[in-house]
Amino acid sequence: MFSTKAVIINLPKFLDPRGNLSFFESNDHIPFEIKRSYLIYDVPGGETRGGHAYKEQKEFVVALSGSFDVLVTDSDGNEQLFNLNRSYFGLYIPNLLWRQLQNFSTNAVCLVASSTHYYAEDYIRDFSEFNQNSML
Ligand code: TYD
Repeated sequence: MFSTKAVIINLPKFLDPRGNLSFFESNDHIPFEIKRSYLIYDVPGGETRGGHAYKEQKEFVVALSGSFDVLVTDSDGNEQLFNLNRSYFGLYIPNLLWRQLQNFSTNAVCLVASSTHYYAEDYIRDFSEFNQNSML
C-alpha cells in the first residue's frame, strides 16, 4: 500500500438498484490522511492540468464523471499512463512523481483528495529541478 509508484486503487462498491455507492477513508482505502479535496471541471477540449510534481503531497484522483488520463513520470523518465473513467476506482499518486492530467472528456469531473493543505512551496514546476530533487 505504501508504494512509491502510482497505483490504481479499487474502492468498495455497493451495487444497489437505487444507485451504486463507493467510498474511501483516510489511512484505510487510501494510504494517507486527507487534509484537503479539490475539483477540476469544465475543462475545455485539448487542455491539460497539472504538469508538476510535489515534494510532500500525496494524492488520490478519481473521475467522478466522464474520463481523463493521468500521465505519471518518475525521476528516471519512466512514464505510466492511466485512464480514469469510473467512480469506483482512483489513482494513488505518491509525492515526487511528475503528473499531468489530460485528454478530458466533455463534462469530466475530477476529484483529488490530498495529504496536505495547499501550499505553493510544495510544487516542483521545473522538470530539471524535479530530476535533481529525486536524486537526493
Ligand atoms: P494548480 O495546482 O497550479 O493547478 P494546475 O496544476 O492544474 O495548473 O492550481 C491552480 C490555482 O489554484 C493556483 O493559483 C492555486 C490555486 N489552488 C488553491 O488555492 N488551492 C488548491 O487546493 C489548489 C489545488 C489550487
